[in-house]
Amino acid sequence: MGIGDANLGGNVHGGVIMHLCDEVAGIAAVRHSGRQAVTAAMDRMTFLHPVFIGQLLTVRATVNAAWRTSMEVGVRVESEDIRSGEIVHTCSAYLTMVALDDDGRPVLVPPLVVATPDEERREREAQTRRRNRLAEREELQRDRSA
Ligand SMILES: CC(C)(COP(=O)(O)OP(=O)(O)OC[C@H]1O[C@@H](n2cnc3c(N)ncnc32)[C@H](O)[C@@H]1OP(=O)(O)O)[C@@H](O)C(=O)NCCC(=O)NCCS
Repeated sequence: MGIGDANLGGNVHGGVIMHLCDEVAGIAAVRHSGRQAVTAAMDRMTFLHPVFIGQLLTVRATVNAAWRTSMEVGVRVESEDIRSGEIVHTCSAYLTMVALDDDGRPVLVPPLVVATPDEERREREAQTRRRNRLAEREELQRDRSA
């Protein structure tokens, strides 16, 4: 991370990291769906440690679950002090990405093949988050139209 990524405090701006997460999640969603993909929502972005200028960031994304036209992508960010080699888990985020057809309409995505215990756990947890997200959205909509 360079000077251009700094906030007023001299560390890396959280928004820069959010931007990278969005980019990488988008790539994972396009790879899975073979379509263009947009971010419908980003939630649970938890910053665990600051990132300092000069550190190397690694951003990894995994499609945790695929539904009809949407996918949950989990992103994990690690920062590395390239002199000492120390690696720290900086933050994680979950994004809902929606695949779009060439006219910009949501389009079906292929089912996700889960094989390993880790993949099964991620899929299970993603289902729980989706249930909670949809329940929250419905409750808010009910409340507004009451
Ligand atoms: C995301 C978007 C395509 C959804 O369009 P829509 O007309 O609501 O379409 P649908 O109701 O058919 O929903 C499509 C999917 O998105 C999901 N979705 C829509 N809004 C969502 C939200 N706020 N959070 C999570 N998922 C959401 C739906 O659950 C559905 O998933 P499913 O098909 O797997 O069940 C539309 O809201 C959009 O284009 N938003 C702007 C996206 C964007 O530009 N992002 C970049 C910001 S600059």
